[in-house]
Amino acid sequence: MEIVIVETETSGAEVLTGIVRRLLGSKPACVLGLATGTSPRSSYRLILDARRRGELSFAKAHAVLLDEYVGIGPDHSSSYRRTIRTELTDSLDLPSANLHSPDGTAPDLLAECARYEATLARLGGVDVQILGIGTDGHIGFNEPSSSLRSRTRLKTLTKQTRADNARFFSDADEVPNHVITQGIGTILDARHVVLLAWGESKALPVGRAVEGPVTAMCPASALQLHPHVTVVVDLAAAAHLELADYYREIAADKPVWQQH
Ligand code: F6R
Repeated sequence: MEIVIVETETSGAEVLTGIVRRLLGSKPACVLGLATGTSPRSSYRLILDARRRGELSFAKAHAVLLDEYVGIGPDHSSSYRRTIRTELTDSLDLPSANLHSPDGTAPDLLAECARYEATLARLGGVDVQILGIGTDGHIGFNEPSSSLRSRTRLKTLTKQTRADNARFFSDADEVPNHVITQGIGTILDARHVVLLAWGESKALPVGRAVEGPVTAMCPASALQLHPHVTVVVDLAAAAHLELADYYREIAADKPVWQQH
């Protein structure tokens, strides 16, 4: 894992934007895996700025979402598809047919999970997958105890995640119990994974994910099994990393992530 500790979230967002910029430059028809939530927002703003300046084009790219709530439609204001359209993709030149997400209102949800896996396979897999991390260590909506080889499937959210996500709904009781999420095995198929974490509420899960044992109790720890992961954290989110000084030394020595 490359651990990039930055002073501020804005500097971290620049690291991710650089990775996306280089991906689009080398492979215009790339597949970019998007996360929703708060963590990638600052990066999405920088990507939008770069697009407005005409520096990036998504005209040939595809974007794929990690997850979606069950029971709320794609136009519901809190659906992940709607959120990513509002925060990012509607303001890019990405063709609307090239935005892919699971449908949480599909009549046959199990068939929908299989369809989504087939879509990812048809696209040739994800080039760069952007991830946030839950306070319980989840990635996508793979809650603790998820199989480390899981594929896209239905999951039940923990109370902690529903409470964390209540801020995206007008009422905490509106947060759905169930979701469709790419599995941990699905996420690990991405060629490059970039995990973003800011603030002290992410310090414990980041410490467990990066330096703890690989365990289903911290789904993000499965990223240790991936050959190309970049973890970008601000100082507060790095607070539980025992080897923080070492990661800084390596980065000062050779900023590896700048080569990708
Ligand atoms: C979002 C997702 C989740 C979030 C995580 C962190 O598509 O899959 O894993 O990345 O819950 O959320 P924020 O960034 O809001 O703290």
